[in-house]
Amino acid sequence: MKSLIISCSLHTESKSRRLASALESLWRTDGDVELATLDLRELALPPCDGGAAYEDPAARELQEAFAKADAVVFAVPIYNYDVNAAAKNVIELAGRQLTGKVAGFLCAAGGDHSYMSIMAVANSLMLDFRTVIVPRFVYAGGDDIPESGELSSELRDRVAQFGAEFQRLARAVHSA
Ligand SMILES: Cc1cc2nc3c(=O)[nH]c(=O)nc-3n(C[C@H](O)[C@H](O)[C@H](O)COP(=O)(O)O)c2cc1C
Repeated sequence: MKSLIISCSLHTESKSRRLASALESLWRTDGDVELATLDLRELALPPCDGGAAYEDPAARELQEAFAKADAVVFAVPIYNYDVNAAAKNVIELAGRQLTGKVAGFLCAAGGDHSYMSIMAVANSLMLDFRTVIVPRFVYAGGDDIPESGELSSELRDRVAQFGAEFQRLARAVHSA
């Protein structure tokens, strides 16, 4: 059962990327998780145009990474009460490769009030591709993640709880 963590922020000092790193460290220590990672800063994806963009080499790479994965964690910034455009573009370019698979979310936001923001994209994955969404996600507001230094133990616990539930559901769906 292969899990992929995709970091969707394009910001150099991304907070959602730190959530992704915390989960990656946990899963690497666990040793029981077959893991791949992808960082959108390193993939020059074209904007989805519904046509030629699907054949772009970077889009192909993304589609292959999704095709190889059984379950995908999206680490996303919240922009305008939604995921950022880069994450939306990923789903436009490669969402189909998530058909019947499991997806979950680690979110970084500036404030405390945008915690429902993930639902539009979660609904779209469920309805378009019958993706099974993990019914727990991490939402970290601006004060939850310090500008530098370690994540708090409370936040690391939330990431760990998400990680455990993600694996439990992903394994159940994979073996069903
Ligand atoms: C264009 C833009 C829109 C944003 N919209 C929201 C928002 O709707 N709600 C919110 O809580 N934070 C919002 N923020 C703050 C970001 O969610 C915050 O900076 C977060 O850390 C971004 O994730 P990242 O650090 O992984 O890039 C916005 C930031 C930008 C740049």
